[in-house]
Amino acid sequence: MAMLPLQAVVLSALLQNAWSISSRFPSNFKFGAASSAYQIEGGWNADGKGLNAWDRFVQQYPSPIKNNDTGNVATDAYRLWREDVKAAAQMKLQFYRFSLSWARILPSGFTNEINKAGVKYYSDLIDGLLAEGIEPVVTIYHWELPVKILDLGGWTNPLIVNWFGDYARVVYSLYADRVKTWLTINEPVVMCDLFYNLGAFGLKEPVLGPFLCNKYVLLAHAKAYRIFDEEFRPKYTARISFANSALWVEPATPNDTALAELGRKHQLGRFSHPIFSKEGGWPPAIEKVMLEASLAEGYKESRLPAFTEDEIEFMKGTADFYGMNHYTTYLIRPSKPEDEPGIWPITGSSELQATFIHPPGSTYGASTLNPVYPVGIRKMMAWLKQQYGDIDILITENGLSTSGYELADYDRVNFIREYLEQVLLSMEVDNVSVIGYTVWSLTDNFEWLDGYTTKFGLYEIDFDHPNRTRTPRVSANYYACVIAGRSLDVQDSCYYKN
Ligand code: NOJ
Repeated sequence: MAMLPLQAVVLSALLQNAWSISSRFPSNFKFGAASSAYQIEGGWNADGKGLNAWDRFVQQYPSPIKNNDTGNVATDAYRLWREDVKAAAQMKLQFYRFSLSWARILPSGFTNEINKAGVKYYSDLIDGLLAEGIEPVVTIYHWELPVKILDLGGWTNPLIVNWFGDYARVVYSLYADRVKTWLTINEPVVMCDLFYNLGAFGLKEPVLGPFLCNKYVLLAHAKAYRIFDEEFRPKYTARISFANSALWVEPATPNDTALAELGRKHQLGRFSHPIFSKEGGWPPAIEKVMLEASLAEGYKESRLPAFTEDEIEFMKGTADFYGMNHYTTYLIRPSKPEDEPGIWPITGSSELQATFIHPPGSTYGASTLNPVYPVGIRKMMAWLKQQYGDIDILITENGLSTSGYELADYDRVNFIREYLEQVLLSMEVDNVSVIGYTVWSLTDNFEWLDGYTTKFGLYEIDFDHPNRTRTPRVSANYYACVIAGRSLDVQDSCYYKN
């Protein structure tokens, strides 16, 4: 339900008094917004681009996507990227996070052919952003595997570690002169666990697929990091990490405290411990659960493949900050016989024999996947600090979905404000080093299996118009005010449309 703008202002003041925090963000804290290539670009077969997993998946019949939507045109950002730069500049974003399409740069996925038009597209975008004083934050891989690599086993083939490294080397050599923040890979838990569980992108194999993918995605990230360190750092400065999907997990009852900790380690520890912990490797508690579950199922060894000592050393310390996508919080409890089988990380886990439920009384945006639970972001970051020490955290995604055409998106305004209040509390009360915040998303876009029905944009896109007209929502106005004042204490006019 949309909240009235005036109530929003009053609520904000109340929260500030209650915790007596300042409403100001430090001068080194950066504000941005994000997108990803398949979700916006379109131009699916333009100018020599190769095909990727999603290009193929959306053509399946019957369509796995709502309304048979595809990303063939999307927001047409391949053609209209200047409009996105304009939108970002209007809000005075300090950075724009976007991703590169692997097959637009390397049509086969391999380095045998480099597509000049694709290279130029991203080069122009980077220059266009820099000309407006907007820093490019580049995700190297946001779920678009070139089909040839998919057909060769994709993320379950150990050779992908080198193939991804080769791709990363190409993009560093093209853009490292101008890009100073890199995210190698977006949300490993979604692309491995969720996609292999659901069969999104075409292959459903929930038993071994997710865990093979877990191993090689972490090694591929580390490979890309080490390549930069060894071959590019002597000449270029940059900070490199990857973007984890950080679901905050809370116990459903006081008896579930230990299970909640296990849930966090399964969800996030698996992708953090190998890189951010002192000892490296999988979280020991998860290794144990996975081994026990696998042996009980009749396997000879754990379905979570072991790392060698060399691999553990290779991954350790391969991040310069923590990239955190955070949307929501789930409660966890032991599964009951009547529960539906769990789909990790949405409804539960068979390995953990655990089920997720949503916080009671939750409100939602358009998607019922993401209960709104602002305090979760603060708890999540406190946990990261407790686990991995004083690492800088860049919030690489946070946002609320809405449905239908609606410029007066007060729910999104309230969401951003309430989550940013918790970010301030993290910094000021918990002494967490949060270095920036990214709204997902700059514009509406192709929301994967939901197609265009679920919208996340600060800017609305008219998908019926050939020029995919971009129009700022109230949230864009509000966010611009927050950025201008570096504060949540904004004038009433910020809650209305310009
Ligand atoms: C996370 C993903 O990185 C992004 O691609 C997706 O659109 C948003 N979450 C919203 O679901």
